[in-house]
Amino acid sequence: MTPSDESSVAEIDSERFRDLGYRTVDLIADYYEGIRDRPVYVQAEPADVVAAFEEPLPENGEDPETILDAVEEYVIPYATHNPSPRYFGFVMGSGTALAPLADAIAATVNMNTGGWHPAPSGTEVERRCIRWLAEAIGFTPDTGGLLTSGGTMANFTALLAALRDRTNYETTGSGLQGADRPRYTIYMVDHEGHSSVVRAADMLNLGRDAVRRVPSRDDFTMDVTALERMLEADRANGDEPFCVVGQAGSINVSAIDPLDAIADVCAERDLWFHVDGACGAVGAMVPEFESRYVGMQRADSVTLDPHKWLFIPYECGAVLVREQTVLAKTFAMDASYLRGSIAETPEEFDYYEFGPQMSRGFRALKLWMTLKQYGLEGYRTLLRKSVDCAEHLDSLVDAHDDFATVQEPNLFIYSFRYVPADLREVLADPPAIPLARIHQYVDELNQSIADEVVQSGLAFLTTTSIRGRRALRMSICSHRTTVEDIETVFDGLAETGARLDEEWRESAGLPV
Ligand SMILES: Cc1ncc(COP(=O)(O)O)c(C=O)c1O
Repeated sequence: MTPSDESSVAEIDSERFRDLGYRTVDLIADYYEGIRDRPVYVQAEPADVVAAFEEPLPENGEDPETILDAVEEYVIPYATHNPSPRYFGFVMGSGTALAPLADAIAATVNMNTGGWHPAPSGTEVERRCIRWLAEAIGFTPDTGGLLTSGGTMANFTALLAALRDRTNYETTGSGLQGADRPRYTIYMVDHEGHSSVVRAADMLNLGRDAVRRVPSRDDFTMDVTALERMLEADRANGDEPFCVVGQAGSINVSAIDPLDAIADVCAERDLWFHVDGACGAVGAMVPEFESRYVGMQRADSVTLDPHKWLFIPYECGAVLVREQTVLAKTFAMDASYLRGSIAETPEEFDYYEFGPQMSRGFRALKLWMTLKQYGLEGYRTLLRKSVDCAEHLDSLVDAHDDFATVQEPNLFIYSFRYVPADLREVLADPPAIPLARIHQYVDELNQSIADEVVQSGLAFLTTTSIRGRRALRMSICSHRTTVEDIETVFDGLAETGARLDEEWRESAGLPV
């Protein structure tokens, strides 16, 4: 194609577009059909993946067909297959099948949901989603909120709202730079509090140290008496506490803090109560789990991520804020061009006034379509299935001599350790061998078990640190995962553990 050839920039005609579309839909359908048989992790060396994309900035355009060939040749094969039923890494929604269609439609209409005028139906779809999410977890239908790119931005949005609403200083103009300001502080449980809250404090220029870590109890949940003591001590030191963050489904063990007791503490002291339910808040829609969430509905704000346990593909986070007016107070902007010429009516609701983004995509469509597809009852079935899988995994761990539990199974994230039975006995009855050596050996064993299983393509999982010790961590966040998948992966972990232990034991200088 020569530079003067305008055909390369002409709109694709509708017949060709249909062919490209049919080919893409076939690709997606084949992908879903074969997902169970794909190795979960990329089966290539990192250098090969890097090399595949080493191409110059195209001077002249290519045919869309050739570009789709490239997607098939090296984009999809070099992916990690998060939609696999054996993907247990991080906390990733497995991707519901209507969503790629929704994303294609959203990109087609290309509404900017920053404002009502550029996105009348887009805005209303999102408002409806927020209302439905609120109702699903027991909030009143008039709860405010918006969809965000993810949990980090949801936490950020809520904490900025908290800062504006609960501190005595006006921070919108001068930020935190005014003279003689106290240190504004946020409280979160020590072990399981999520790093995104620390990042939000950083982005708010409060400093990471503003997040005060409250000691946890044996079950990893917040010790509320310790929280009260810290609040008193910090106030006595001149700090200004303004927010407490409770976890509803924590990152390593799905712990749910005593939300009702935290709500009492916040109500007594006029502190903002935020619940980080990015992973687990949606569990409240299942009647038999409701009692775990008592008090969540008293929160001023809740983070919950449809791109986690509602299985929606990226990106789709959400924050609910009890009073929409607080979001308006926090984010309202005045820029003359935004007002346009069309008279505003009370129905017209501009999301750019309620959150950090101005231009916004139509991420609500995939959520709206999927909520309509499954309904609450369908979602309840899927959420129960994840919890059943986690409980089944716990029973396998419990029954196996060489595995050790580190937690009660709570929701869908479950951590556990491979600890050879004989070493467990040695650890219980300290021997001549330094304990630190055994701990280090078991830590390395767990890391290598995860690495080998991931490299083999059988499953994707990560390790994490539980009270300073390396543990295997499985986030069972796929609506495709079955109890059989859990058994297959558990067997793979057990076999890998036994083999590595046998290979390593002698050279590690430990009893064989
Ligand atoms: C409890 C919790 N909060 C917040 C986040 C951040 O969410 P995101 O990765 O969507 O920004 C996560 C991510 O895993 C999380 O587990």
